Amino acid sequence: MSEKWIQFFASLAIVLALTGSLATPAQTADQAWLRYQGHQRRTLSPLKVRTLGTGALEQSAADELNRGIADFAGRTASFSARARETFGGETVLGTVEEVRRTYPGLPVSADFPPDGYWLYWNGLKGDRSLFLVVGGDQRGVLYGAFALLRHPTSDNLRNLHDHPLQSQPALPIRWVDEWDNADGSIERGYAGRSIFFEGGYVRQDLAPVAEYARLLASVGINGCNVNNVNNAAPFLTSETLHELARVASAMRPWGVRLALSVDIASPQKIGGLATYDPLDPAVKAWWSAKVDEIYTLIPDFAGFTVKADSEGQAGPASYGRTPADAANTLAAALAPRHGVVLYRAFVYNHHLDWRDSKADRARAAYDIFHPLDGKFASNVIVQTKEGPIDFQAQEPVSPLFAGLRQTSQAMEVEVTQEYTGQQRHLVYLAPMWKQVLDFDLRAEGRSTPVKEILSGKAFQQPLGGMVAVAGVGRDAWLGSPLALANLYAFGRLAWSPDLDPAEIAAEWTRQTIGNDPKVVATVKEMLMQSWPAYVNYTGPLGMQTLTDITGSHYGPNIESSERNGWGQWHDADHEGVGKDRTVSTGSGYAGQYSTEVAHLYESLATSPDDMLLFFHHVPYTYKLHSGQAVIQSIYDSHYEGALQAARLGDEWASLQGRIDPALYKDVRARLDYQAGHAMVWRDAIVQYFFKLSGIPDSQGRAGHFPGRLEAEDARLDGYRIIDVTPWEDASAGRAVTCNQSAQQPNCSAEWRYTGQPGRFNIAAQYFDLADGAARFTLQVNGKPAGNWTADLALPTPSPHGDNSTRHTLCGIELKPGDLLRVVGTPVQKDPAALDYIELTAADSEISAAACRP
Ligand code: GCU
Repeated sequence: MSEKWIQFFASLAIVLALTGSLATPAQTADQAWLRYQGHQRRTLSPLKVRTLGTGALEQSAADELNRGIADFAGRTASFSARARETFGGETVLGTVEEVRRTYPGLPVSADFPPDGYWLYWNGLKGDRSLFLVVGGDQRGVLYGAFALLRHPTSDNLRNLHDHPLQSQPALPIRWVDEWDNADGSIERGYAGRSIFFEGGYVRQDLAPVAEYARLLASVGINGCNVNNVNNAAPFLTSETLHELARVASAMRPWGVRLALSVDIASPQKIGGLATYDPLDPAVKAWWSAKVDEIYTLIPDFAGFTVKADSEGQAGPASYGRTPADAANTLAAALAPRHGVVLYRAFVYNHHLDWRDSKADRARAAYDIFHPLDGKFASNVIVQTKEGPIDFQAQEPVSPLFAGLRQTSQAMEVEVTQEYTGQQRHLVYLAPMWKQVLDFDLRAEGRSTPVKEILSGKAFQQPLGGMVAVAGVGRDAWLGSPLALANLYAFGRLAWSPDLDPAEIAAEWTRQTIGNDPKVVATVKEMLMQSWPAYVNYTGPLGMQTLTDITGSHYGPNIESSERNGWGQWHDADHEGVGKDRTVSTGSGYAGQYSTEVAHLYESLATSPDDMLLFFHHVPYTYKLHSGQAVIQSIYDSHYEGALQAARLGDEWASLQGRIDPALYKDVRARLDYQAGHAMVWRDAIVQYFFKLSGIPDSQGRAGHFPGRLEAEDARLDGYRIIDVTPWEDASAGRAVTCNQSAQQPNCSAEWRYTGQPGRFNIAAQYFDLADGAARFTLQVNGKPAGNWTADLALPTPSPHGDNSTRHTLCGIELKPGDLLRVVGTPVQKDPAALDYIELTAADSEISAAACRP
């Protein structure tokens, strides 16, 4: 089939897709990456699709292939002979037994792992052409069908004759966890309300749940835990379990099994027992009966996830029992049904004494779980976050992975961007996960990369996996279009940790945005740059994310992690910064690694720069391996990070006209916002460390903002000067807020321009508070030069780095003596608070990106 034909059908498909979509506005998987129609080049196999078996999963696989070719079916009669050659014959789906029975002559291996698949073409054309999608089991057939649809071009399909494609997952457990509450809210969710629950009940309409399962299946995810690890007890009542059976049924056709978070105190909280001691016979009997009840309702139930003795959750420690005691009680109840327990290693004391140099939250998981190695039942998997603290933008790899050699393990990561920009910032996390997966922990003095520990290969364990806290909601799954690349990449890496994150990014882009090589290359590049940029402007050198850890986890608040029991300390003082975790002088955390890795981190001479401050307390003048002083690196990386963020917008702007206009506009606005917020981060951290250290920036930027006109220095009418908390979140620590009254509906701040004549971009930095959409106007010599509305939904109800926002007005001519005035009109609880305005030359890189047409 010629390229022209493909394009013709593709455009026909766009029309069909558009008219069809008007009739079906519901939340669908097509809104993520499962778009077969439209702008991309299609993979085309024979149009006739047939299943050899009758199972529901095989049927889903066939449905999916038919969906992919729906626009072409029925048109073969009018095809040219050449087209009939392509579309003739059959695409046949079946399990390995079914295929071997039906086609005894074909070279199908008898030895097939569960979930694995094999794609094969018999090499014949026209009516005798046969494409085979063979699965190790039903689920494998489904994954094979999605793999076929993922194939970049029809030409690649032709290779399947000489090179059949065999694939199997590296990790048996590939789950997403949803931290949804029964009331419909989602802990750490940034995409609207729950697709599962509302008002205390399972939602009536579970169509989005089925669509979510379809999305998960397309990247090989086979389990979904639907409820928050906190407050899990109510989910085990008989009434709720009956409702949850409907959720399990909605996901079942896509091979996604339901799992639940459980509260270890459930026997007491909902079971009426006097105790929840996991070793008490009555408690054990309660769990067994509960598990029986669950399996009667949900025969393919996957298992339990447990958060215990952590952040206020009840746990076995209340009875002097260990995590192994608790896990094994649940495991014994689940074992007859082949269910599993994912016991989270996120167990730590959040009332640590920060004055005690030996106290260290990072040590907790290893200290608690390492002594229990070998004591867990075989259907228990210890689930450990990728780093020892808590989903920070950058942490060392958890040493516990190498500390458990007789225990199956899973790694927990976050797709939901709790500490990494909450989906308002583009941060593609696959490169970070990949770094962890590839990290060689050198257990027993040999190569033991994390991915081989998780697969069970390194220490010969039966199970293992990857789990992502996903946080999907009703707002376009993850709220932001490009954030979906993280969900996609998680599934792909859990299937094959050897995949390259850049390749995954390209694969996702081709399916989601378009197949134009320029689009694929640009989006891939943007995704790949986004995580290093975020680390640069939020917390480099292993300092962790310098965010508000006791509040939103979003904007900067450096001291929120100091001098409290939460243990996310970075120990910054006038002389230096960094938490000493060495064995010789610090908390001893470095000693939890194998000798080789411990040695690497223990010594200043070998500690890598990007982890330096996680392991060492050093003076600001300490020289990195790069030759730069720590303080200068802090300044530089924040300026560099903010510039990188601005460039993301610039790169996206180069795609205008090549991609869907609505998507272009949506993402463009998000990237402009991100570039502005990256500057908030930059300025907060730079001014904080500049003040604390007293050491000037060799490039003269810290504390100097040419072109910046502070609101507190303006001639104010109605505005009142305020101190912002934390101080580093406002330029020079202060801002102005409008005291509205009936007599004074708005306020203004006015400056006289005294610089050279020229053309400027003028950025206004203001605080966009959630309850109300304040309005702003910039006037030049009394004439409006632009206006905007503060209508974003951002965290924290008072002026703060969480809601400090930038709006740029472009190409404004100024001459000395001009009057610049910002008029702010408060609306409801948004007092139109203003930090500053900043004038930059219209062609400067940092502001130009926001001014692209
Ligand atoms: C983070 C997160 C909490 C969550 C916890 C966990 O600390 O902020 O909301 O409950 O992780 O993983 O259990």
